[in-house]
Amino acid sequence: PLDEAEVERPRLGRLGPVRVRVPAKINLHLRVGDLRADGYHELNTVYHAVSLYDELTARPGDTLALTMEGEGAGHLPLDESNLVVRAARLLAEHTGRPPHARLHLRKNIPIAGGLAGGSADAAAALVACDALWNTGLSRDRLADLAADIGSDVPFLVLGGTALGTGRGERVSPVLAPHHTWHWVLAFAEEGLSTPAVYAELDHRRANGIADTVAGEPDTLLAALRQRDPEILAATLVNDLQGPAIALRPELMRTLMAPDEVEALGGIVSGSGPTCVFLAADARHAAEIVAVLERSGLCRTACAVTGPVPGARVV
Ligand code: C5P
Repeated sequence: PLDEAEVERPRLGRLGPVRVRVPAKINLHLRVGDLRADGYHELNTVYHAVSLYDELTARPGDTLALTMEGEGAGHLPLDESNLVVRAARLLAEHTGRPPHARLHLRKNIPIAGGLAGGSADAAAALVACDALWNTGLSRDRLADLAADIGSDVPFLVLGGTALGTGRGERVSPVLAPHHTWHWVLAFAEEGLSTPAVYAELDHRRANGIADTVAGEPDTLLAALRQRDPEILAATLVNDLQGPAIALRPELMRTLMAPDEVEALGGIVSGSGPTCVFLAADARHAAEIVAVLERSGLCRTACAVTGPVPGARVV
């Protein structure tokens, strides 16, 4: 995916709207290391982009303006604190352009769901404004800017399946034979705060409730190469799952809900509360969705596939 041939080149003199689609992410492997002096934790993670998308449209304008519809509309502030606005301003500063654009966000990725929805929207803003303003940055330069906005943003520019290290911002693609995995996402009624989940992990470690485990995802990477969902399911791991369940005990029941249809490997996504289940195929995924929706243990469930590309002009 880092191949220059794949970099989308903006058309010169573009005046019409630019539409960018950006996926949600799950973490197939998330080992959290020590708390650093800067307040972030050292991570060893495997990111995986899935086919649940937000869409950002950028049009020429006289100022920078953001509107939105869908998930979280009316709750998410649209001011300077919004990651989309911050991303657009950062790109403008770095390229010497006036930060002028009319941006419209259509959200499907739930807010505070452990799916990096806000980071996805920031990645979309970088790619959309790069095309609108003809700044023509490479994906690598966009990824550098992305890291200043949030730890997950560089991955959402890249997409696919990738290793993440540092605080998650250093990403490199995982080389695995092409294979489509089928997943089910179960959304909770209410989000969880990422800093609160990390703080709960620190608290559990300080009190000997949780340990720090060495982070290398070797068994997971081997499982990805084998293209067998049962083998992959057995290697999924997330250090934030324990803390997320401590803060939201009912997640335990959600994770067990699809047992009757033998979902493979239920796991909390990132800092939660979204739960992810691996399915054998598309039909199995549909069965898992049906069981979850009947259970009343989640707001809604949906089947997705991965890996999919990162933020792209469509
Ligand atoms: O990087 P981002 O702003 O998305 O991170 C949100 C919060 O998640 C941070 O403020 C921090 O509390 C926590 N975090 C962390 N270690 C990481 C990534 C995020 O503690 N590697």
